Amino acid sequence: MRLFSLKKKDVKSGGTQPPLRHIAFIMDGNGRWANSRGLPREMGHKAGAEAFRRVVEYCFNRNIQLVTVYAFSTENWKRPQSEVDGIMKLLMDYMQEWLDNHDGNKFNVRFLGDTTRFSPEIQRLMKEVTQDAHDYPHTLNVAINYGGRDDIVHAVNTLISEGKTEVTEEDISSRLYTMGQPDPDLIVRTGGEWRLSNFLTWQSTYSELYFTKTLWPDMIYRDVDEALEFFATRQRRFGAVK
Ligand code: IPE
Ligand code: IPE
Ligand code: MG
Repeated sequence: MRLFSLKKKDVKSGGTQPPLRHIAFIMDGNGRWANSRGLPREMGHKAGAEAFRRVVEYCFNRNIQLVTVYAFSTENWKRPQSEVDGIMKLLMDYMQEWLDNHDGNKFNVRFLGDTTRFSPEIQRLMKEVTQDAHDYPHTLNVAINYGGRDDIVHAVNTLISEGKTEVTEEDISSRLYTMGQPDPDLIVRTGGEWRLSNFLTWQSTYSELYFTKTLWPDMIYRDVDEALEFFATRQRRFGAVK
């Protein structure tokens, strides 16, 4: 199934484009967006939360099955407490809104990361949101208290607790927070940094990478389309010869 239209001129010679099933976003640049307006960083995160809503909705409308957003890393706890609290409040607001609108959402939500670090209130909301799973064709992964290294360590510890003394790649893949899901076809990072910052370390080995200077709160449909057009020009070989 083709998930977005492919312009003929975009196809590299000899390449046939596999469908884009999983797009992942490193939502970066909220702080700089606020700074450039003389606003506190928290306002940048608020504007970032609005961008998150419109980008996720747009991706699902483009019929992409799986959207992952990097909302908070295992390293982001180093930030000032007031900023962390502001992000947690936005997370709670989103989850409450999602639960209130549950008939209108039409997608499942999964949290990637160690959720035991959050307050009981946040954990309760996360549980409610996750348990509200239906047979929807679309899923949103929210990576929160997420680190690619932590993901792998957590998977290996799970395998050890199951009694494994030797593991395969399939064993690890099947114990990651993304278990059962396809690896990201495309990772988009906003904010002008060209790094992955501990995001989907195991899963990104063959992802296409798209970096844009657009700050996350400024992200609109056209920026998503540009990323999708970039993806359409890629010839994915996965180590083989085309
Ligand atoms: C990304 O924006 C959001 C989180 C990491 C939670 P930043 O807050 O990192 O924004 P910049 O990079 O400082 O502009
Ligand atoms: C990555 O952004 C994490 C998220 C977007 C949630 P950071 O702003 O934390 O990354 P660095 O510090 O610039 O690498
Ligand atoms: Mg940043």
